[in-house]
Amino acid sequence: MEVRRVQAIYDARAKLYDRTVGGAERLLLGEFRRLFAAELRGEVLEIAVGSGLNLPYYPPAVDRIVAVDLSRGMLLEALARANALQRPVALAQMEAGRLAFPDASFDTVAVSLALCTVPNPEATLREMARVCRATGRVVLLEHVRSPVWPIAVVQWLLTPLQQRALGCHLARETVETVRDGGFTIERERRRFFSIFRLVVARPPMNPALPKSR
Ligand SMILES: C[S@@+](CC[C@H](N)C(=O)[O-])C[C@H]1O[C@@H](n2cnc3c(N)ncnc32)[C@H](O)[C@@H]1O
Repeated sequence: MEVRRVQAIYDARAKLYDRTVGGAERLLLGEFRRLFAAELRGEVLEIAVGSGLNLPYYPPAVDRIVAVDLSRGMLLEALARANALQRPVALAQMEAGRLAFPDASFDTVAVSLALCTVPNPEATLREMARVCRATGRVVLLEHVRSPVWPIAVVQWLLTPLQQRALGCHLARETVETVRDGGFTIERERRRFFSIFRLVVARPPMNPALPKSR
């Protein structure tokens, strides 16, 4: 789906996002947002931050938070959340596949529930690797195709609906895309028929050369 179409979907849904999608996912994700945030260190870039549902879990030890999203509506929700938490967050409207930051700018580059939606996950991962310091880590919380085939069939059947509603592919093989991109996976946790994955990875030495899937 085109970037502009995804942007329009999230601009239109921004005000109700937390009450609709945000509510349902709490049941599905359990502790995963807290565990995701516990991996964040130093200067952090969160891409596709949405309404900022991870912000309440950021550990105080994080030195600086920069967060970007395609949708202005979602960024306004994230700003309101950051203000309510009294947490300084530098927000910017930006496409995840073309990050306007110099190479090696961040200690942690994080993303949750968005590699399912970006038009080109390979390009987004390349950009995440580029802006991450060589000593840094990439942290992902994503839903992927379940290895349990009846569940995978349901995911496949529901994808057209989910695409229309949220521009989201329910069954991408994101962890394989991360591996193919040359990242070294340090830890992976799974939840709910292995649909949800929390991945901590080291960026590849040369992010210009990942294979396409
Ligand atoms: C399902 S929401 C997840 C939001 C947030 N990361 C969370 O965990 O709640 C997907 C978000 O990705 C953003 N997004 C989708 N495609 C994008 C892109 N190409 N570049 C930047 N943000 C994008 C949308 O605007 C939306 O805010």
